[in-house]
Amino acid sequence: MELIRNFSIIAHVDHGKSTLADRLLEYTGSVSRRELKDQMLDTLEIERERGITIKLQAVKMFYRAEDGNTYTLHLIDTPGHVDFSYEVSRALAACEGAILLVDATQGIEAQTVANFWKAVEQDLVILPVINKIDLPSADPERVKKQIEDILGLPSEDVLLISAKEGIGIKQVLEAIVKRIPPPKGNAQAPLKALIFDSYYDPYRGAVAFVRVFDGEVKPGMRIRLFSTGKEFEVTEVGAQTPKMTKFEKLSAGEVGYIAASIKDVRDIKIGDTITDAKNPASSPVPGFRPAKPMVYAGIYPSEGYTYEELRDALEKYSINDAAIQYEPETSPALGLGFRVGFLGLLHMEIVQERLEREYGVSIITTAPSVVYRVRLKNGEIKEIRNPSELPENWGYIDAIEEPFVLITIITPKDYVGNIMSLCQEKRGIQKKFVYLDPNTVMLEYEMPLSEVIMDFHDKIKGVSKGYASYDYEFLGFREEDLVKLNVFINNEPVDALSFIVHRDKAYRRARQLVEKLKEVIPRQLFEVKVQAGIGNKIIASERIPPLRANVTAKCYGGDITRKKKLLEKQKEGKKRLKQFGKVELPQEAFLTVLKVE
Ligand code: GTP
Repeated sequence: MELIRNFSIIAHVDHGKSTLADRLLEYTGSVSRRELKDQMLDTLEIERERGITIKLQAVKMFYRAEDGNTYTLHLIDTPGHVDFSYEVSRALAACEGAILLVDATQGIEAQTVANFWKAVEQDLVILPVINKIDLPSADPERVKKQIEDILGLPSEDVLLISAKEGIGIKQVLEAIVKRIPPPKGNAQAPLKALIFDSYYDPYRGAVAFVRVFDGEVKPGMRIRLFSTGKEFEVTEVGAQTPKMTKFEKLSAGEVGYIAASIKDVRDIKIGDTITDAKNPASSPVPGFRPAKPMVYAGIYPSEGYTYEELRDALEKYSINDAAIQYEPETSPALGLGFRVGFLGLLHMEIVQERLEREYGVSIITTAPSVVYRVRLKNGEIKEIRNPSELPENWGYIDAIEEPFVLITIITPKDYVGNIMSLCQEKRGIQKKFVYLDPNTVMLEYEMPLSEVIMDFHDKIKGVSKGYASYDYEFLGFREEDLVKLNVFINNEPVDALSFIVHRDKAYRRARQLVEKLKEVIPRQLFEVKVQAGIGNKIIASERIPPLRANVTAKCYGGDITRKKKLLEKQKEGKKRLKQFGKVELPQEAFLTVLKVE
């Protein structure tokens, strides 16, 4: 165990994590240059295209150090997006150290700070490394000072490298073996292995990536999962070198994979502990939390695809993604579909894209919404994933709570004014305002997640010309003055169009909504009243004037084929309409509303 080092690279997006990982592999002779081209650590097609690392993986390398010893290095990859912050924390829990990589031209960004604190929480030894020193605009002195002032890491410990040019790579490897401590653990104790990632392999079944803390695991052994008590027999253990390579066993201190003919990835929960079924450990690795979707949206088949096709695609997709949850849902406008829970917006985009691209169904996704917690007067707590699930009688409700996040923003000082107004508009509560250096400011706000998922990303990039970066973490549910906005068409409530909104914003949203609806609802033979209200109290109203008479009236009796055509058209239009009271709403009406800003 003395010769093992377990570490991660933590960095803001694009600061060079994958490039450095490739260099380390190359330097330790783990993979050929040709293979490197495929960017070993990013396996999924979409990840490569977006340049985002989503799946965690762990690579074993062997490094012959200056002291003459050959060390086993396990590099554990961490996902680089805020949706996966729990997964990041579990990957870090598997390590003793982390390389904190900062771009020499950009300096510290929001994700750098967020990840730094996660590493500190896990008591990791942190090696600060400044990357991209080859660039003419690199300012390593400024970044060193930031690292010292903001993160409190002494500037003499900072390494300067260029992952692209291969400068300073050996120093990084030496620092890993000299400064990061070897793992502790007891190889004789009962098995205790932390799951930090999983994936579905058509040959091996669901595979768990683990860090073994105590004991050992080998094929033939019966293992048990702590959170569920489920048992399986190990068929294979091994590690990525970076190819999947079988080993005889994994022992205390080591990192690798376990396969046990597990059919469902849902049985391998990230953060859970694997132990020996015959001789179980007395307690699990602390910190387990079941995956919990924070954002929900409806997914429906587009025209030309069926509900069954969508169901099959979702089933297949979810074999590989234990984090999504879905259940059937019917919408009066969109028909049969699913309510799907995601970890966040990026996760949602990934699912959407993969369903369409890899599973061949074309889909309609409704606007995402957060989970609300409703406290009823009888003491019951209900989780609401769809506003239509709110109790009919408002009198039963004691309070509605919504998820809040702590958002950290780093920006050049010129945009601070814009960003503060944006955050205020988004119901943010300022918690911190500090200068990181004379030109850079860090802000912290507590903010409702619903405001973040709406359009925060585009807006903050817009008001800062793309320079501000942000990251957030979940704080908890908070009671807010939330109301249900109901929509009425000719006095009939249309439940599918209702949503939950803060009282202060209800008027504006109600106005926008009725105006949009007025645009998309076709004129009828009678006047249509479109209204929005809190409960039954109407706060915005529009009227759609009636069509004067039959559309053919304009034809002055003339051309009969033309008349026919118009009538045909009218019929066709009707097919796509849904009846509401006497009024028929086109699918478009629902979509514009469900996608309303
Ligand atoms: P994510 O996977 O999106 O988190 O990004 P990453 O942090 O893995 O960054 P990646 O390694 O993909 O590098 C981002 C960009 O920076 C790429 O275009 C790299 O070629 C470039 N890059 C990385 N290291 C260096 C460096 O040392 N010098 C220069 N000039 N460019 C670099």
